[in-house]
Amino acid sequence: MNETATAGKLYVMGVGPGASDLITVRAARILSELDVIYTPTGKKGARSLAHAIIEEYLSPNTQVCTYHFLMKADIAAKQAVWDEVAQALKEEVANGRKVGFITLGDPMLFSTWVFLLQRLVSQQMTSPSWLEIVPGITSFSAIAAASAMPLAMEDQTLAVIACTASETVLEQALLNHDCIVLMKIYSRFPLIRDLLQRHNLLEHALMMADATLPTEQGWHNLAALPLSEKEGMQGLSYFSTILVNKNWPLSR
Ligand SMILES: C[S@@+](CC[C@H](N)C(=O)[O-])C[C@H]1O[C@@H](n2cnc3c(N)ncnc32)[C@H](O)[C@@H]1O
Repeated sequence: MNETATAGKLYVMGVGPGASDLITVRAARILSELDVIYTPTGKKGARSLAHAIIEEYLSPNTQVCTYHFLMKADIAAKQAVWDEVAQALKEEVANGRKVGFITLGDPMLFSTWVFLLQRLVSQQMTSPSWLEIVPGITSFSAIAAASAMPLAMEDQTLAVIACTASETVLEQALLNHDCIVLMKIYSRFPLIRDLLQRHNLLEHALMMADATLPTEQGWHNLAALPLSEKEGMQGLSYFSTILVNKNWPLSR
């Protein structure tokens, strides 16, 4: 997009892990001043969690556009949606509007926003003047705080990894780092639990689902959790994350 062509601006804001008061003061201020906001939803027709988090900060005059980002479709279908939303954002900014786009947690970590960013800016060191990215509290820092489990200290290393990775990659992360954040657990809970057991890490691991939301649940004793063959773990929330700290044994 042309740097000088427009007075419009795109504000991409991380809205944190779930609690409405875990967004930044900057994001709250920007949200109250927007012309239009784009809110993502994972399921067609479903309410956007990100939108529910920030609803109280929005001006009643702000237009709300909800986009359905396909989660399970093939790559071509996903790319078509990213192209469409990137184009819509571009046009809004070119029309001089103050445009908001919100993502859960932080926008630069495992976020669909990054696919739009690739379409909107060429690689450069500084953000263009029509774009501002406001960081958010990631789910794993909220979980570390809620469970009083540190993430890394001094010369320790921290790996953040999606459980959609191969078993070898997951195992290497567990072997090579002091602290490991395991995101996107989905149906891979049984595999992760086996890996933790195999490497004597169960007593250093905890899992939290829906952190900072009213439905928040946390587990220290992962060995005792019931499994169902189909789902990996019965009713496990999509918003579930495991933290491992080899230097921080957890009391059971
Ligand atoms: C697409 S990623 C989004 C990550 C997000 N950008 C962040 O900064 O946390 C979705 C994954 O984030 C984690 N997650 C997001 N919100 C969470 C929450 N409230 N509690 C636990 N895990 C959460 C889960 O591992 C989930 O599978």
